[in-house]
Amino acid sequence: MRIESIRLRNFKAFKSVDISDVPPFMVVVGANGTGKSTLFDVFGFLHDCLQSNVRQALSARGRFREVLSRGATNESILIEIQYRMEIVGTNRLVTYTLEISEEKGAPFVKRESLRYKRGRYGAPFYFLDFESGQGWAIINE
Ligand SMILES: Nc1ncnc2c1ncn2[C@@H]1O[C@H](COP(=O)(O)OP(=O)(O)OP(=O)(O)O)[C@@H](O)[C@H]1O
Ligand SMILES: [Mg+2]
Repeated sequence: MRIESIRLRNFKAFKSVDISDVPPFMVVVGANGTGKSTLFDVFGFLHDCLQSNVRQALSARGRFREVLSRGATNESILIEIQYRMEIVGTNRLVTYTLEISEEKGAPFVKRESLRYKRGRYGAPFYFLDFESGQGWAIINE
């Protein structure tokens, strides 16, 4: 699995960041406090979300309000990762999207999806799609 791009909205210091053409070997250089650790914590955060749950992943980082970028205009955190993966014998560019919001002080997954494009111009094919606790996943591929 190779990551090709990362899109972040309101994740700590990253209000709106798009990183494309991620090379196989990447070195991140920057002044103190510019977000190097935050960039790598995107993966730590996703790991915690999947290992335990979103609430615990947020709690470990000081709850939703601390993780949401200060001064965010949109009240949700978005993490989107594109990676290459073989699906039924074909190498596909898969997009994983996770959007987290908060309601009455409790965080919840607003949207989580996995999709890939079958053709260059075709509509994306969703093989996992959940919205506010309801959705579906295709498990035979
Ligand atoms: N919710 C938030 N909204 C906006 N900025 C935030 C938020 N949470 C943390 N930050 C900022 O993110 C920055 C921390 O970034 P980070 O620790 O990733 O930097 P770094 O490049 O790893 O620094 P160092 O070289 O010191 O390790 C700090 O400036 C902090 O104020
Ligand atoms: Mg650091």
